[in-house]
Amino acid sequence: MTFERITEPNRALVNEFVERHWFTITMIVRGKEIDMTKADGFFLAEDGNILGLVTYALYDDVLEIFSLDSLQKNRGIGTGLLEAAVQEAREQGCSKVVLITTNDNVDAMRFYQRRGFDMARLFRNVMERSRQLKPEIPLIGEHGIALRHEIEFERALKAPVDTASGGEEA
Ligand SMILES: CC(C)(COP(=O)(O)OP(=O)(O)OC[C@H]1O[C@@H](n2cnc3c(N)ncnc32)[C@H](O)[C@@H]1OP(=O)(O)O)[C@@H](O)C(=O)NCCC(=O)NCCS
Repeated sequence: MTFERITEPNRALVNEFVERHWFTITMIVRGKEIDMTKADGFFLAEDGNILGLVTYALYDDVLEIFSLDSLQKNRGIGTGLLEAAVQEAREQGCSKVVLITTNDNVDAMRFYQRRGFDMARLFRNVMERSRQLKPEIPLIGEHGIALRHEIEFERALKAPVDTASGGEEA
């Protein structure tokens, strides 16, 4: 499975995918607006169609994933894209990868916990504020669950071995 990095020539294709799957080109994370036209990421395409996309941004020593979508479930696309982002974080010297899921997305909670992510923070009732900024966000989410909170997950990355000082991995 070969993933392509988001670059200017393929940005329009990515923007169109984001708008189709997330209602608009902005996402709301922790009650703040994210301009997805500026997000970094990787995708899998076949015949010019995107089958899976992961988007993220780097700040300080953190890589934050904004979205992860797979259109063909259970083929390993989601895991592959997630690991591509984690690998990027390692190469950029990040100490952790973080991401948000909403309280209704129990499938994603299972998916991330089985892939080394742990719950780190709860943003209770933050979806009320998100909905003020983005009224397209539905009141009821997956499995008929009221869409109300965000849960932050994180996966700590091991510090590289410092051979010069004889240091050990954290
Ligand atoms: C969550 C999501 C990204 C997972 O994508 P996916 O492509 O189905 O993920 P994978 O195929 O890698 O893994 C899914 C399951 O299929 C299994 N699987 C992986 N490769 C497989 C293969 N070749 N054959 C059969 N099963 C396989 C995995 O073991 C995994 O099961 P597990 O969770 O019990 O370990 C996808 O369901 C999705 O797009 N959801 C909607 C958007 C969303 O909620 N995103 C996350 C919040 S930002």
